Amino acid sequence: MNNETLSENTPILVEKSGPLHGSVTVSGAKNSALKLMAACLLAPGTFTLRNVPMIADVKWMSELLEHMGASISFNENELTINVPETLTPEAPYELVERMRASIVVLGPLLARFGTARVSVPGGDDFGHRPIDMHLRGLEELGAEFTTSHGYIQATSTGLTGTRVLLEFPSVGATENLLMAAVLAEGTTIIDNAAREPEISDLADFLNRMGAQISGAGRSIITIDGVNELHPVEHTVIPDRIEAATYLAALGIAGGEIEIEQARADHMDMMIRKLGEMGMSVSPTVNGLKAAAPERLKSVDISTLPYPGVATDYKPLFVAMLSVADGVGIVTENIFAGRFRYADELARIGADIRVEGHHAVVRGLPSLSGAPVRAHDIRAGAALVVAGLAAEGETRISDAHHISRGYQDLVGNLSSLGAKISYS
Ligand code: EPU
Repeated sequence: MNNETLSENTPILVEKSGPLHGSVTVSGAKNSALKLMAACLLAPGTFTLRNVPMIADVKWMSELLEHMGASISFNENELTINVPETLTPEAPYELVERMRASIVVLGPLLARFGTARVSVPGGDDFGHRPIDMHLRGLEELGAEFTTSHGYIQATSTGLTGTRVLLEFPSVGATENLLMAAVLAEGTTIIDNAAREPEISDLADFLNRMGAQISGAGRSIITIDGVNELHPVEHTVIPDRIEAATYLAALGIAGGEIEIEQARADHMDMMIRKLGEMGMSVSPTVNGLKAAAPERLKSVDISTLPYPGVATDYKPLFVAMLSVADGVGIVTENIFAGRFRYADELARIGADIRVEGHHAVVRGLPSLSGAPVRAHDIRAGAALVVAGLAAEGETRISDAHHISRGYQDLVGNLSSLGAKISYS
């Protein structure tokens, strides 16, 4: 892995651009790769993961697995993970604090070793992010938890399958439960499970390892526990949020592009909304192609669990609405605090009024470049694409947030004709 790129915190400079033309290829999905890496803890031996994005979060998950005793090597986008028979089942504060997704090691560690010590994840820029559903579901399978000095100590004398009803279709809780239940005794039913494509990818991976999971991608998942699993090779699904980022850039700058490897069937609602805004997006043999008019029309957006409009698409929609024709009302139903980037978009002239979990976005013909700050991955991406419609220069600092989730956003947008570079 190229550490020079990963430690990259050089601000990104964007100028008004468009129309965009050409073709880009999306990487593997961050939010799948991280969970597949955690799932490797379920069996000793050598795993191969292909199409893994070379991003900071993957590097941190590697560090976490290495801390436990695994050895990992990278060859471009292929990751080889060797998991020994015995591990130190611990996720320390220094690593969990950097990346909340580390919590998904809890399920596999409990399932395989009956014990885990994991730092309690803190809040983040989205606000309060509890893990109560993860813990309650695992308790229902027979795990016990104590918390002291900032760590969760988990133990179990053997997990037993049962019906777990989730209060909300949490992605992380569904993943932790899946990875715990595969080695539990008897049958587990996860009711009100998350249905994201990344859940199906994880279930496919686990089934290939020897697990017995059916129903992944639907609301009720059934897992028949098995005694042991074995290492496998697997190719990570494409990143739908990265693909959505190029579509948002196109919506703002206009033009016609192809996105290789993107899965239109993973992005139905996004594509429908873009259609309402005036874009055309259709599948091709290898991905999808899209065209955008000179100016988008405003629509209302409401985030929901999959297959609804993903909360991770929302900053991109807010950026598009900032320059669309009309007024759009955006409602956030997943992470109450996820509007912080609106103040940064306002710095480049966007007219956004936030009230609780709603935002009213009045589209303007163009924005006005200024220095802004990325607070998280998707907020950073939204500032980048909004900058394509801003007169003058938009300089995005704290760009390290962007490299947590995008292997080469600057290079890819630049190859489509966007005026973007590291400043
Ligand atoms: N929630 C609880 N209790 C829990 C778990 C979740 O109240 O025990 C709440 C959360 O606070 C939130 C809602 O349930 O309000 C949904 O959270 P979920 O568990 O579904 O999200 P997550 O697993 O923490 C993943 C992605 C996020 C993405 C969300 C929603 C990863 C690593 N992260 O988070 O992606 O926004 O699902 O789709 O998979 C990103 O990639 O930038 C990102 C933030």
